[in-house]
Amino acid sequence: MPNPAILQRGEDGIVVIEKAAATPKSCCHHHAPQTPNNGQPMAIEQLLVELRGAFEAEKAQGHVINNRQEPESFKRMNTKSYGTCNGGDWQRFALFNDIHYVRNLVEANEDFELIVICWKAGQVSRVHNHDASHCWLTVLDGDMKEVQYQRVGSQATAAAVLAAATGAERAEPVGSAVVVEPTQINAMKVGDVGYINDHLALHSVGCYLSPEDVQPAADSDSGWRQQGGVTLHLYSPPIRRVKIYEENAVTERTPGYYSKGGVRV
Ligand SMILES: [Fe+2]
Repeated sequence: MPNPAILQRGEDGIVVIEKAAATPKSCCHHHAPQTPNNGQPMAIEQLLVELRGAFEAEKAQGHVINNRQEPESFKRMNTKSYGTCNGGDWQRFALFNDIHYVRNLVEANEDFELIVICWKAGQVSRVHNHDASHCWLTVLDGDMKEVQYQRVGSQATAAAVLAAATGAERAEPVGSAVVVEPTQINAMKVGDVGYINDHLALHSVGCYLSPEDVQPAADSDSGWRQQGGVTLHLYSPPIRRVKIYEENAVTERTPGYYSKGGVRV
């Protein structure tokens, strides 16, 4: 994770992290030695090729891909290069909806799914878990905020003890009452990458741009108009069920897709 530019602890004990300003897209052409493709923007197809290769390599070494992997065994699964240096080819997957943030599928296979999530200004997810998966989040457009949560009190201890003793995932049964509290806020800008799994925290994500801030990007010559925030999510293995932590009651849902391959479903 990049060094935070600002790190403070508020009166309520919540850690607030504001990462260093992201490098603009045009950086690719000026710092070629530090970027892939000799300074040329990375295509999303190349990212997919690299990800497929990384996961095959992990499996070839006998690693089972899930959130119990050691960090050394999944550090190659990296969306940072694409996030900091791309030509905007994610825009063809970026469909928005006025009512709710939406998940647009780029690719799903047995190892991972790559999803472009589009958030109109003010759209925020509920607090949720990530099953047994890794979750990487890369900001492609807009100003985003991630709020991490921990379970409060004896429930937190019980969940941790159960997970350690049985290998069970750290997710409570549907219908149980769980109190969570925010412990960390990550302000994220274009190019920032976050990582989370169930052993670390629960979280919610949202676009905190105000509607007045939404306008065509200054450097846009592709016809792309900023409508809010766009994030690239890499889940591994693909997430088939998500627990929602709401009003002290846990519910479960199966996440769907708003589009696949840029085509509305
Ligand atoms: Fe998430």
